[in-house]
Amino acid sequence: MPPRRMARRGGGEETIWEGDEMLKYEGVDTEYSLAGKTAIITGAAAGIGFATAEFFRDKGANLVLADINPEVGKIAQGLGGSAIGVAGNVCDRAYPAQVIEAGVGAFGQIDILVNSAGIVALEAAEKISESDWNNTIDINLSASFFMAQAVGSYMIENKIGGSIVNMASQAGVIALDKHVAYCASKGGIIAMTKVLAKEWGAYGIRVNAVSPTVVLTALGHKAWDGPVGDAFKQEMPSGRFAEPEEIAACIAFLCSKAAGMITGHNLLIDGGFTIK
Ligand SMILES: NC(=O)c1ccc[n+]([C@@H]2O[C@H](COP(=O)([O-])OP(=O)(O)OC[C@H]3O[C@@H](n4cnc5c(N)ncnc54)[C@H](O)[C@@H]3O)[C@@H](O)[C@H]2O)c1
Repeated sequence: MPPRRMARRGGGEETIWEGDEMLKYEGVDTEYSLAGKTAIITGAAAGIGFATAEFFRDKGANLVLADINPEVGKIAQGLGGSAIGVAGNVCDRAYPAQVIEAGVGAFGQIDILVNSAGIVALEAAEKISESDWNNTIDINLSASFFMAQAVGSYMIENKIGGSIVNMASQAGVIALDKHVAYCASKGGIIAMTKVLAKEWGAYGIRVNAVSPTVVLTALGHKAWDGPVGDAFKQEMPSGRFAEPEEIAACIAFLCSKAAGMITGHNLLIDGGFTIK
């Protein structure tokens, strides 16, 4: 399926909102496919970002893996599909443009951004250091915004109706002990996502967030291994934590045509934990 171009609502050309296309239902394989799309995925060398890269590859997407891990190029090669890696720090303000340029150079255009790079600092609110606070806000929130700003500007300029998924967390909607900076960063992601969806809807760009519960990655193990995590699990209707692939599948759905009418949404993937 060729990449779709969209005209600005109110502009000279006919406006096509992604949801309109669902009226021409073409079958499940097409509605959920990412074939022909190119996705930038930050934090793609490990954890949820890597699982998302694998899932997107299987859905037919071209991939631009962005990660501070210098091995990200080799990791991209190992995916076996159409993937490149661009090593760098998401906090470097020059990095988003480098990632976009590399992706356009390799695949022609960018259709999707998944902001997955993130860290957690575990400390009581009265003790957390300024550097832990600043690093968490910089990597999780500010870098996600500036990556989205660069990709959004690129999409607007090139009239590309695309999709952006920001990584929030259940920590963005509930209070977790020793997670003050993390909770603040993820609450910020949810608010930012709504504003971007509102401002960029006119350009055919959908912006959503996902909010996972504990996911079994390095970050998840760091925060939740041990008795506190075991007690937490007991309170979850699912009775278990999430696998990274379960988050990847939801992100892929949000980026697909099947989710063409969904924007500004925060999708909780929490095994029911936040129901109570
Ligand atoms: N694991 C969980 O329990 C969980 C739950 C909810 C939300 N999340 C969120 O999901 C996202 C991914 O987490 P994960 O569990 O996959 O973590 P992870 O530690 O397994 O992977 C994070 C990846 O981000 C990269 N990264 C970190 N800092 C970076 C930087 N400054 N620049 C570029 N790349 C950087 C790392 O190299 C790594 O490859 C994060 O935003 C996290 O907050 C995780």
